[in-house]
Amino acid sequence: MPSRPYVLLSCATSADGYLDDATPQRLILSGPADLDRVDELRAGCDAILVGARTVRADNPRLLIRDPRRSARRAARGLPAHPARVTLTATGDLDPRARFFAPGALRLVYCATPALTAARARLGDSAVLIDAGDPLSVDFMLSDLAERGVARALVEGGARVLGEFLAAGLADELNLAVAPFFIADPAAPRLDLPGPGPGGPMTLAETRRVGEVALLRYLLGPGGPDHRFLRWAVELSRLCPPSDSAFSVGAVVVGEEGEVLATGFSREQEDHDHAEEVALRKLAQGKLGPDPRLRHATIYSSLVPCGARASRPVTCVGHIVAAGIPRVVFAWREPRLFTDGEGAEQLRAAGVAVTELPDLAERARAVNAHLVP
Ligand SMILES: NC(=O)c1ccc[n+]([C@@H]2O[C@H](COP(=O)([O-])OP(=O)(O)OC[C@H]3O[C@@H](n4cnc5c(N)ncnc54)[C@H](OP(=O)(O)O)[C@@H]3O)[C@@H](O)[C@H]2O)c1
Repeated sequence: MPSRPYVLLSCATSADGYLDDATPQRLILSGPADLDRVDELRAGCDAILVGARTVRADNPRLLIRDPRRSARRAARGLPAHPARVTLTATGDLDPRARFFAPGALRLVYCATPALTAARARLGDSAVLIDAGDPLSVDFMLSDLAERGVARALVEGGARVLGEFLAAGLADELNLAVAPFFIADPAAPRLDLPGPGPGGPMTLAETRRVGEVALLRYLLGPGGPDHRFLRWAVELSRLCPPSDSAFSVGAVVVGEEGEVLATGFSREQEDHDHAEEVALRKLAQGKLGPDPRLRHATIYSSLVPCGARASRPVTCVGHIVAAGIPRVVFAWREPRLFTDGEGAEQLRAAGVAVTELPDLAERARAVNAHLVP
């Protein structure tokens, strides 16, 4: 298990960058389509984290709304809802808040000096964890990883989002920009205690979601290659489980850095490979491969297969036929199901291949039931 979870920050802002207005009522900046998008994000995470002031101010439920998504999680052996997580220095939390309602595991990371009072106040409504004095966000993340949280969704508020960004602890930021202004300096904005992540974020996607504009940025160590590959590894977590095939994620990125398609194993059909699904999404029928693929890079958590029992065309075959000039992968295929020498075959076909072995362990961990 990696030492900390993949951390996805998610928030909605007004067009002038505010996270809320200055009134005590909760302001919903997203529309129904965007709330549904966030529901899907929640369904793909092991934990949802908000700061204690958001618990106090907004009283969020932090549950998955669509029962089909909860059912999908249950079918994969996961709890119906992700764990709810908060952090507090004061311990000033009301056990009647919706955060403490049954339905999901509740974890409260509390600074040592407030622990005794918080324990008296919260009783057994949550698991209370001593997070040090001062509270250490690094400790919180490694403790979450030890509890099996591989993917954490941080939904606010201003201070918590700012802390994660400033400390370089975020892997992804999903910013939904609403089509109105707040124009009130008393309202909260992202509250960065430091200069923020070094260097620019990698803009991976811009999308209209109902009335909001979604900006999806990748952050974290390394340049764009490293970041896109980490995203591919994250996609592999969404694979329907299998005892006879690997779980793999793939991202196809165009010449300008725009994401053209994503895929994961068994996403559409039982024997699907991740690269195959992503390329199928871009197929143009009789017109042949999407011309943008001639300048694209495909990122795959596992080296594309060069031999395959389930279908006649290997992923190497699909990539070469599509004219993709570059492949980046994390994990070399262990000789478990086939002897495919995918990287060598790609190079022999003139495809540039980059291996980022420092991400191999993350990609393997998703397949720990096959390769312990
Ligand atoms: N637009 C959006 O997407 C969105 C999403 C969520 C929230 N919001 C808004 O954001 C606002 C709340 O943001 P906020 O900045 O006031 O609060 P916040 O980030 O939700 O929570 C801050 C609190 O978390 C605890 N905390 C955070 N970092 C800590 C650390 N390193 N050590 C110890 N404790 C720590 C402290 O709790 P204690 O005070 O208990 O010590 C601190 O006061 C609300 O207006 C809410 O509506 C907007």
